[in-house]
Amino acid sequence: MEKIYIISGTNRKEALSLQVAQIYKNEFDALGVAAEIIDLKSLPADYLFSGLYENAGKSDEANLLREKMKEGKKFVFVIAEYNGSFPGVLKAFVDGLEFPDSFTHKKCALVGLSAGLQGAVLAMSHFTDILNYCGAHVLAHKPKLAGIGSHLNRGSITNERYMKHIKQQVKELIDF
Ligand SMILES: Cc1cc2nc3c(=O)[nH]c(=O)nc-3n(C[C@H](O)[C@H](O)[C@H](O)COP(=O)(O)O)c2cc1C
Repeated sequence: MEKIYIISGTNRKEALSLQVAQIYKNEFDALGVAAEIIDLKSLPADYLFSGLYENAGKSDEANLLREKMKEGKKFVFVIAEYNGSFPGVLKAFVDGLEFPDSFTHKKCALVGLSAGLQGAVLAMSHFTDILNYCGAHVLAHKPKLAGIGSHLNRGSITNERYMKHIKQQVKELIDF
C-alpha cells in the first residue's frame, strides 16, 4: 500500500495539531502501513510571497512538500479550529499546490481539534468543500476532538472515546 501523508495543518510553533498528527502516525505504524507527517511549519517563512501564483513551484523548501502532495494518494488532514474555520496557512498551502494533480481522485480523512466545544466541526466542513472542489473524496467519519488541551497528555490522547474514533477512522481510511 502507498504511503499515507498526514498533514499537520498549522505552522503554529507549539501546535497540538502536530501531536495529533504523531498519534495518527503511531496508529498507521502499528498496523504496518507507511505514513509520513507533513508539518506546515516546514514551509518557508516567506511562503506567501515565494511559493504562490507566479512563484508556485519555485521555492525549493515548499517544493519538498509539494512533491509529496502530488505523489500521495491518501491523506489525513489534522484541522485546528482557528476563528471558526481552519488555519489560513492551510488554505495558502493548498493554493500553492499543483492543480488538479494534487487532489483529483485522491482520498482524504479529516480530524478536527479545538480549544472550545466545537471540535472544528465547521472548519472540517469548510475544508471538505475545498477538497471536493479539488476533486478529492473525503471519508465521512471525521472525529471532533473538542477541548483538546484537556485530553492530551505527553503525546497521548487520554479520552477513550476520542481514541476509539481515531482507531476506527484509521482503519476506514486504509480500506477507503
Ligand atoms: C489564531 C487562532 C484562532 C483560534 N480560534 C479558535 C476558535 O475559533 N475556536 C476554538 O475553539 N479554538 C480556537 N483556537 C484555539 C485552537 O483551537 C487550539 O490552539 C487548539 O489547540 C488547536 O490548535 P493548535 O494545533 O494550534 O494547537 C484558536 C487558536 C489560534 C492560534
